[in-house]
Amino acid sequence: MADKTDKIFTNFKEHSVAEFFKKNKQMLGFAGKVRSLTTIVHEYVTNSIDACEEGGILPEITVRIAEISKNERYTVAIQDNGPGIPKKHLGKALGQMLAGTKFHRYAQQRGQQGIGAAGCTMFAQITTGKPVKVVSEYRDKRLMCKVGVDIKTNSPDITDEIEEENPQKAHGLFIEGEFGECKYERSAQSPSEYIKRIALANPHVTISLTEPSGETTTYTRSSEIVPAKPKEVLPHPLGLGVSDIVEMAHRDAKSRSISKFLQSGFQRVSSARVDELKGLLDGRTEGLAPIDFEKKPPEMTWGEGEALIKAFAMVKWIAPAADCIRPIGAEQIQASLANILAPEFIAVTERPPKIYKGGIPFLVEAAIAWGGQAGRRSSTNEIGSDIIRYANAAPLLFDTSGCSITQAVKDVDWKRYKMKNFEEEAISVFVNVASVHVPYTSAGKQALSQEEEVYQEIKNAVMEAARRLQLHLSGINKERDQELRRSAILRYVQQLSKDVVDLAGKGKADEVNAKLQNLIETKYKSHIMGEDA
Ligand SMILES: Nc1ncnc2c1ncn2[C@@H]1O[C@H](COP(=O)(O)OP(=O)(O)OP(=O)(O)O)[C@@H](O)[C@H]1O
Ligand SMILES: [Mg+2]
Repeated sequence: MADKTDKIFTNFKEHSVAEFFKKNKQMLGFAGKVRSLTTIVHEYVTNSIDACEEGGILPEITVRIAEISKNERYTVAIQDNGPGIPKKHLGKALGQMLAGTKFHRYAQQRGQQGIGAAGCTMFAQITTGKPVKVVSEYRDKRLMCKVGVDIKTNSPDITDEIEEENPQKAHGLFIEGEFGECKYERSAQSPSEYIKRIALANPHVTISLTEPSGETTTYTRSSEIVPAKPKEVLPHPLGLGVSDIVEMAHRDAKSRSISKFLQSGFQRVSSARVDELKGLLDGRTEGLAPIDFEKKPPEMTWGEGEALIKAFAMVKWIAPAADCIRPIGAEQIQASLANILAPEFIAVTERPPKIYKGGIPFLVEAAIAWGGQAGRRSSTNEIGSDIIRYANAAPLLFDTSGCSITQAVKDVDWKRYKMKNFEEEAISVFVNVASVHVPYTSAGKQALSQEEEVYQEIKNAVMEAARRLQLHLSGINKERDQELRRSAILRYVQQLSKDVVDLAGKGKADEVNAKLQNLIETKYKSHIMGEDA
């Protein structure tokens, strides 16, 4: 037995995060040739917009996709006018997984994990063997280099580095990668659709896409206002799990004690709240291990973290501040939908921020466009409903069925809102979920998980818009009914005029006809104008 066990453990090995994601690249969205190409565009574009907003710059982004050969190899090049990346961080930002400026922050940005850019570098490397080319213009320097990922150690591999002066202080980042196992096509999940949807929800962005055919489409910004800088907030005690709090405590080398760590690292934790927690965690409450609040935070054990999380749930907290949430804005959504879908009717709902998991603020914006170009057209030109999903104004094109947004929209009882068969209506339902921490189902960031509060709020927001659509449709039906009655009566007027003249033995049928017609038209006109004639 001992021998056998020894044999098993001779194969015991460690592996890096990069090795893990190389094996599980589908988790990053690299699954399927079309999807892989859209994922690359998505990761780079969201990074560019995040960086520009952080720098208070109106984003100007160009994306160029070119086919290198017919064997499904493409170059993707993106240029932005953001702040660029300083030399010191460039390698890690683009060549190391779980490295970035956003992971440890509670701020509403499109990226949150520190995987996207390095994931693309890795994908280039494993499908073509080539690193990505980068030009970073940051302050008074221009750095040109190639970046790869050392998969074994999850560390950046920088080559061909050239540094120049940048006296004009131009700023921005250029990345060009060569990617295999990709395919460009114009479909509902293609880069062209992705960029269109970026433009739809980000009116301050000017973005252009050059497709492999050489055709360039440019979406010019309709708003000159840079959205307010993402506001960083402290986490609320109710939004955390045990590993989060233990990890935060271990990173805190500054606070003198766990008491101080709680007061400085979280929102809504006053000294009175700490006293309340101390009361719960003094060893006398059943099921709660005691905690020494005076020891240094890095000494916090897992058991203590667990006890703290349990105690958090027993205390009454003030809800977290929600002023860190930046919605797209009802006016903007209305203008964008009108512009792109030219529908007959639009309803946008504006709702206040809500909280999920007790401590994470979020906000749902929903809109319904009906008629015109709204809805989806199949290859045989049949019309069907379309659900346009966003998280922090970044489009979600994949994993539709596994997404809480899709679920919530489909669970609405559409018949109540005069939609006989939702699937077959010319209707587009737009939903944006904005939060400092979006509950994605995976690192590929294409679907939202089933958080009850988020699901319910999406459903409520959509139902609010649907109620307005229903009122509009009832109005249309009323008009249609009246029109039917008017034309039915008019059909009999001519015969009636003749009969009346015959019976009376005097008068002219034409004159009677004109008079009667006039009478009917006046009655229906005043009906439409709203008077009860
Ligand atoms: N175009 C850019 N301009 C400036 N900085 C950038 C740019 N692209 C990436 N970065 C920096 O590189 C870091 C890593 O980017 P990456 O996409 O890997 O992670 P992320 O955006 O933080 O999170 P996510 O994995 O969710 O996308 C970012 O946090 C940012 O600091
Ligand atoms: Mg990113």
